[in-house]
Amino acid sequence: MGVFCNIRHMKLSQAKTEIEALREEIRYHERKYYVETKPEIPDSEFDMLMKHLEALEFEFPELVSPDSPTQRVGGEPLKGFKQVTHKVPMLSLDNTYSEDELKAFDERVRKSLKEDPEYIVEPKIDGLAVNLFYQDGKFVQASTRGDGTRGDDVSGNIRTIRSVPLKIPVKFELEIRGEVYLTKEELARLNRGRESEGEELFANPRNAAAGSLKLLDPKIVAKRNLNIFLHTLGSAAGSGWKTHEEMLVSLRKAGLPAVTPAKKCSSISAVIDYVNSWESKRDSLPFEIDGMVIKVNSYEEQKVLGTTNKSPRYAIAYKFKARQAVTKLLDILVQVGRTGILTPVAVLEPVHLSGSTISRCTLHNEDEIKRKDIRVGDFVVIEKGGEVIPKVVGVVQSKRTGKEKLFSMPPHCPVCGSKVSRLGEEVAVKCQNVSCKAQVEGRVIHFTRRNAMDIENFGPAIVEKLISTGKVNDYADLYYLKQEELSGLDRMGEKSALNLVEGLEKSKKNTLSRLIFALGISDVGENTAELLSSKYADLDALAAATIEDLQKIRGVGPKVAVSINNFFQESHNLKVIEKLKKAGVNTKRKKEELATGSKFKDMTFVFTGELASFTRDEAEREVKKLGGTASGSVSAKTSYVVAGNEPGSKLAKAKKLGVKVLEEEDFKKLLK
Ligand code: IVH
Repeated sequence: MGVFCNIRHMKLSQAKTEIEALREEIRYHERKYYVETKPEIPDSEFDMLMKHLEALEFEFPELVSPDSPTQRVGGEPLKGFKQVTHKVPMLSLDNTYSEDELKAFDERVRKSLKEDPEYIVEPKIDGLAVNLFYQDGKFVQASTRGDGTRGDDVSGNIRTIRSVPLKIPVKFELEIRGEVYLTKEELARLNRGRESEGEELFANPRNAAAGSLKLLDPKIVAKRNLNIFLHTLGSAAGSGWKTHEEMLVSLRKAGLPAVTPAKKCSSISAVIDYVNSWESKRDSLPFEIDGMVIKVNSYEEQKVLGTTNKSPRYAIAYKFKARQAVTKLLDILVQVGRTGILTPVAVLEPVHLSGSTISRCTLHNEDEIKRKDIRVGDFVVIEKGGEVIPKVVGVVQSKRTGKEKLFSMPPHCPVCGSKVSRLGEEVAVKCQNVSCKAQVEGRVIHFTRRNAMDIENFGPAIVEKLISTGKVNDYADLYYLKQEELSGLDRMGEKSALNLVEGLEKSKKNTLSRLIFALGISDVGENTAELLSSKYADLDALAAATIEDLQKIRGVGPKVAVSINNFFQESHNLKVIEKLKKAGVNTKRKKEELATGSKFKDMTFVFTGELASFTRDEAEREVKKLGGTASGSVSAKTSYVVAGNEPGSKLAKAKKLGVKVLEEEDFKKLLK
């Protein structure tokens, strides 16, 4: 409190001095903690410094600057990424897998140079390549590699990486490349969270880094605790650096996270010894590496060697062999995920593979099992490449006895016994029973979501409690909960219980389209739900529709039609719907769900970029009011793409397909 009182009486000039001093102190400790991993103060002390700076900046907003440590996670979620053209193309590396290939690389190098080269050998980080750009010592932009020439502007996401300094003591323009990655620990933590949310796991750090950088909301990215190693110079006119080694040392001095370890070797035999020593040591690193990178040290020599249009001639990757083991496939179990997808899982004779014992491993789907001809009783080869999650790569045919058993997916859900279905070309087999025990939690959470029935205050923790205490077995049960029952739950007061009951009561009056979306029919998103409610007067009419009827609706393909039909064939689902009706949930179309005009009948609009006069939702609503359809993706059937500010890739696709593009003003004229 004392701090805040002092701040109020502070003069601007005094605040400025204090803010700058605090920022420098915080930057110093960020560097110690995140770059050098040698913290000097406890976390609590660091948090105090941050809080003090935040308080000062709150009181003096005119002193906030983008390079302040408080400005790592800012701004609203983006609508899409701007494209950035790299000043120097971002190339890739040629791979080698053997000592002979490394020797051949060395011979090629030596042939082009007058003297024997020095090499620098670094770990090949399993992550995603990015380019960072600093101007006047300030972080100004970061982009992904993309196609090597153009990538996405992911500056907001990269700012959240605490080892990326926002200010550096470097005067010249610096373009520097590196690898965004997750430590093994962070990836495991992320995957644990995804598993409990019923989401697909990231198979390796590369996928996790790529998936994270694609997120449009830096607030979510910040929670991923991404990290980065810088390993390649883009451009640095005026740096005077003559070697790669000098560059790495200078980066480190400037507080930038240069890749480490980086070892100088004066011959290819020293390189070979060094990379071999890492083949076994790699498990001891806190991050995944999938090989080593060998680079000619001198920039002058790098220039002489040059590049092909794909990769440099002065560097090469040496890839480690994937770590494999052979074990017996004892059985194939079928698990049901929270979204109803059935997944075959291999039960293996426990086997040790690079630091862990493996006894289970996903087989993904039935097609994959057929393609690899995997049978119960087989000896299988399992592999952990850069992959955290092991996979079955094949069968040891020579060990077959003839007693092995073929596998096929069960026709019924192993959890609830309902008939399962496979939709269209999809490889996934699904159980569509909304009261299936494996799915209840996920389905109830979906039902209550803001864009579904919008029932306030139903967090995942409460849902879990209601299910585990047997009070809720499907989403219709929510409407039969009594206030007294709810207030008896963990830490729930009477007021909160009343709020929940009121929220439920209010939701009974929702539109038909919200209800259809909330039911959780496979492949029926919000747009399709709106389409369906504009065609059918009530839920009974939709339930009675045949596949042929449904397919006649523009925007409903065969796969979606079969999915809807299957959903209403499932007897458990019909019982749940009856319960919803009995509770008084509206199942009839409301007037506002019908289009008031037909000007856009049979037309599909796609929006890209930011519009000045509408939010995306408002613009889509305008289209629907006039009988049109709004879609998220461009196809040859799209009538118009409306391009706002900073349009994304949809604009390029529209141009490629010859779809008419409208500017916001044209769209407004059309509405009139
Ligand atoms: S040097 C011209 N050094 O591996 C490209 N790359 O398979 C120069 N990578 O695209 C890259 N660790 O994203 C270099 N220590 C390292 C690396 C590294 C990981 C990635 C990089 C590159 C990919 C090639």
